[in-house]
Amino acid sequence: MNPAARLLLENKSWVQEKQALDPGYFQRFSMSQRPEFLWIGCSDSRIPPNEITVTSAGELFIHRNIANLIVEDDLNVLSVLQYAVLVLQVPHVIVCGHLGCGGVRAAMTRETSGPLDQWLDNIRGVADRNAAELGALTDENLRWDRLVELNVLAQVEKLARTPVIQTAWARGASPRLHGWVYRLDDGVLRELVTVERPSTAEPPQP
Ligand code: CO
Repeated sequence: MNPAARLLLENKSWVQEKQALDPGYFQRFSMSQRPEFLWIGCSDSRIPPNEITVTSAGELFIHRNIANLIVEDDLNVLSVLQYAVLVLQVPHVIVCGHLGCGGVRAAMTRETSGPLDQWLDNIRGVADRNAAELGALTDENLRWDRLVELNVLAQVEKLARTPVIQTAWARGASPRLHGWVYRLDDGVLRELVTVERPSTAEPPQP
């Protein structure tokens, strides 16, 4: 059987299994969604967001790209953010990076070309701004790990400055921003930073 046909077949048995266990399962999800989290993660196939957080359909609104980047003129991530935060009103936005990220590695080694190379320039900017700290790490793998963390921190900072988050905070909504790192070799998620709505972001007075 060809690999794509296998997926379609697996889907059929999954549907039957779900319906057998819970006849209303699909009906419940067909009308609306109310996810509590926007997940912005890396496209890496080894990090299935629902699986590693033990969440079900309907709980995570998901955006993934190479190296979990928030790029100010990327309409894709910005529209996902707009819809999740201003329409669905998710109370939590998670940026999740991971150790062993090939995108971060490629940004360090400069072995890419084309659109991917342009995309990774965003990480090179993070590396340049933290050149002193990274340069002090003599072990290349430690430098890689640290750049993964610095990248997550930089993306959370960028997220906080986006018009969507600023608008939500100004309207009195309090989406909380989280920066997490996932370890491929043990499956553990670690929290790096949480950013709350600043007290200066008062809603407009009536
Ligand atoms: Co990655």
